[in-house]
Amino acid sequence: MSKPRHIAILTGAGISAESGLGTFRDVGGIWSRYDWRDLATPEGFARDPAFVLDFYNWRRETVRASEPNEAHRALALLQGEWHGPVTLVTQNVDDLHERAGSPDVIHMHGTHLTALCAACNQRWPAPEVMRPADPCPACDAPRTRPDVVWFGETPYHLDRIGAALASCDLFVSIGTSGTVYPAAGFASTARAAGARTLELNLEPSGNAGLFDEAHHGKASRIVPDWVARLLAER
Ligand code: APR
Repeated sequence: MSKPRHIAILTGAGISAESGLGTFRDVGGIWSRYDWRDLATPEGFARDPAFVLDFYNWRRETVRASEPNEAHRALALLQGEWHGPVTLVTQNVDDLHERAGSPDVIHMHGTHLTALCAACNQRWPAPEVMRPADPCPACDAPRTRPDVVWFGETPYHLDRIGAALASCDLFVSIGTSGTVYPAAGFASTARAAGARTLELNLEPSGNAGLFDEAHHGKASRIVPDWVARLLAER
């Protein structure tokens, strides 16, 4: 196998687990404690905006209090040192990749850092606490919501991601259960376009059959190990 040039990486909640942010579907995960229909759908937000905003206010505070771990730092190192493009796509709404030093991160499920007006789509820096009556700075509508992609909504930057999946030589999936589409389909898209596929996860994911190679363990160990091997072999 020839050495990869363009590497496309998809990360999920598992890469931030050791930073204290918790995952969604593991035992004790967020969706075992809360109903995603109430907290992560436009319908849930319409039913009870105060409850939804309180949840995201708490999540945003947790993110602010957390720090990147060795896995985030290893990917930033790879982006800085690799001789070809490294496209980093994350499903996470935290900013731990950026705080670890990653220069370009594609947030396909949005980000905690901005607020979004549900009336006119204006974005602005997220306040510490969002309340249902907060007016949009552009249109004044009291329709402030988190800038995160909920179930039933279309993820962001799909054109850019599609282009990367079509042209990468190696696709790497890190810390994601492979159950939420379209992200869960990226490995097969990249593979169909000729890329090698690698999974780095605590355990085999729901998509394990789509990977040419897999390493299982905690992200803070297996991601830096993989990056070190890759940089040494180039
Ligand atoms: N290191 C590596 N992997 C880990 C670790 C760890 N320390 N801890 C957990 N994992 C793995 C789990 O085994 C699991 O496969 O991370 C994965 C986390 O899966 P999910 O909780 O389903 O998170 P994710 O795949 O990111 O969810 C996708 O679902 O609710 C939505 O929008 C939300 O972006 C999220 C999307």
